[in-house]
Amino acid sequence: MEQTLVIIKPDGVKHQLVGRILQRFEDRRLKISQMRLDNMTEDVAREHYAHLKERAFFQEILDYMTSGPVVYLVLEGENIIQLVRNMVGPTDGAKAAPGTIRGDFAVNKSENIIHASDSPEAAQVEIQRFFGSVPSLIEWVS
Ligand code: PPS
Repeated sequence: MEQTLVIIKPDGVKHQLVGRILQRFEDRRLKISQMRLDNMTEDVAREHYAHLKERAFFQEILDYMTSGPVVYLVLEGENIIQLVRNMVGPTDGAKAAPGTIRGDFAVNKSENIIHASDSPEAAQVEIQRFFGSVPSLIEWVS
């Protein structure tokens, strides 16, 4: 079964959108297999966004992602990566269609509410990064 890593970013938590975002996933009967509210440390943010280190907005994204608590989620199910990316919408909230999470809650590229893995390889690295040292106590009975 495919897994994806989702982060509700600091603006999503600060603006009290966690419940509304989780509701969207639950409305589609997506399975939440792990969930944690935490701060992202600067070191972990640097690692997570290392592929952007040459970009002009790198420091901005580090400051943003460490500006307050985030919610980490692992969702799992068939074709979950693409399904969640479709629900999230494109990077720029201003261009995201209404009905997507960014289209409804974000207005720009720099504070865009949510992150979702973009490939199975990225998802496994990201799940290890954010949940690797956290024991899972969840046992789903299906
Ligand atoms: S890009 O420009 O093609 O690299 O963009 P993308 O792959 O869609 O985005 C990668 C992450 O960088 C964030 N991003 C930005 N942050 C701040 N300012 C600007 N201008 C900006 N452009 C992109 C974007 O939100 C992506 O973050 P994640 O957490 O991966 O969704």
